[in-house]
Amino acid sequence: MPREIRLNAFDMACIGHIQHGMWTHPRDRSTEYRRLDYWTGLARTLERGLFDGLFLADVVGIYDVLGGSPDAAIRNAVQVPLLDPLLVVPAMAAVTTHLGFGVTVNLTYEAPALFARRFSTLDHLTDGRIGWNIVTGYLDSAARAMGLSGQQAHDARYDAAEEFMATAYALWEGSWAADAVRADRAAGVYADPGKVDAVSRGGIEAIHLCEPSPQRTPVLYQAGASDRGREFAARHAECVFLNPSSPQNVARLIADLRSRAAPRPIRAFVGATVILGRTEAEARDLLEDYRRHASVEGALAHAAASLGIDFDRFGMDEPITATGSNAISSNVEAMAKVFGPGWTKRHLIDRFILGSRQVPMVGTPGQIADQLIAFAEETGADGYNLSRTVMPECIEAVADLLVPALQERGAYKTAYAPGTYREKLFGAGPLLAAPHPAAGSRG
Ligand SMILES: Cc1cc2nc3c(=O)[nH]c(=O)nc-3n(C[C@H](O)[C@H](O)[C@H](O)COP(=O)(O)O)c2cc1C
Repeated sequence: MPREIRLNAFDMACIGHIQHGMWTHPRDRSTEYRRLDYWTGLARTLERGLFDGLFLADVVGIYDVLGGSPDAAIRNAVQVPLLDPLLVVPAMAAVTTHLGFGVTVNLTYEAPALFARRFSTLDHLTDGRIGWNIVTGYLDSAARAMGLSGQQAHDARYDAAEEFMATAYALWEGSWAADAVRADRAAGVYADPGKVDAVSRGGIEAIHLCEPSPQRTPVLYQAGASDRGREFAARHAECVFLNPSSPQNVARLIADLRSRAAPRPIRAFVGATVILGRTEAEARDLLEDYRRHASVEGALAHAAASLGIDFDRFGMDEPITATGSNAISSNVEAMAKVFGPGWTKRHLIDRFILGSRQVPMVGTPGQIADQLIAFAEETGADGYNLSRTVMPECIEAVADLLVPALQERGAYKTAYAPGTYREKLFGAGPLLAAPHPAAGSRG
């Protein structure tokens, strides 16, 4: 039997997420992201395709690195305008039963008690289908929006995150004992005060305001790929999200993460964009059709912000010399790996096929299924985070064409497993188990 493939949809509560310019395609509906029925329709399609989850990215600042201005991002709808991703979840949960929701929240600007309550609320309302992608941010514009002069240095952000995680675990896992809630109508006792403790750490003193939710701690995702990022992931993450690169590089990263996290299992999802056609010619035609709508300026604005490099300061063939970026340092390292040292803006732009650095896989459902299976077997990946192109047809094509092809090959489930998001992902219990630090916070 081939390795089982799991799928997440990789999305964001905005118009331009990864593949920039796709919103200008006449069939694209991503400009309807402000409507609840846009999200409920997406959730239904994902559940029809037995996706494990909808993974929602987020930032809390604007992309203003290119030319030192937000203009290119605003013009091209590059992750702005952008809604709060947590608030779109309940509507989707109401029309689905199994789909998980992995939502990105940057912890750097969060008050732990309020943050922990928002996730407990969603864990209750989704019946244990919420996950959190732990990020610490990479935008100075976000720091300024929060009243700070700039963000902390890369590794210092991870140090602060360690402290935040300990406080969050204490709130989710330690404040309420498993048997604190009695709901005894005759005695008039809802909860036993002797079994509810205040959390005193990280400078706060707080009783968690929510009673224990199905998973307590949400399923934890993390996407940091720098050395420090992997150290953090190995301690906290249950699922990791990696940018696509060569099979050798992805295999090395996954093996490193798994050996650092052992004996805890880690599920690894790799980013991918697929263009599917019933025939090869149809897939190629679709690529050419989409390609006419790709935005180079939008892609450059995104790359500039996530790499922390203002490409306007470089000529087309001038080697990009930036090092020590304070944004996503692993992304900068990845550029040198992809293009070799001395890479230039022209190398980058040549790679922007659909409006991002992520090169699409193009083919029939069978061809793409075979490639996804082969890559997973070579790298040890558990599945893919699929970026969107033209919405919603790209997701419908996955559900209706790719998923059956994966199923025919015995590489994809034919029904959801029961239980919470965590139970579905790991086939174990709904709560984090030792040696994960969250389990150690449980009373
Ligand atoms: C594939 C991928 C997706 C990411 N998604 C987000 C995101 O949605 N929001 C965000 O603030 N950071 C995001 N990040 C940034 C990282 O999670 C991380 O916090 C930070 O950039 C430092 O990463 P590093 O350890 O890779 O240098 C993402 C990173 C990667 C590699």
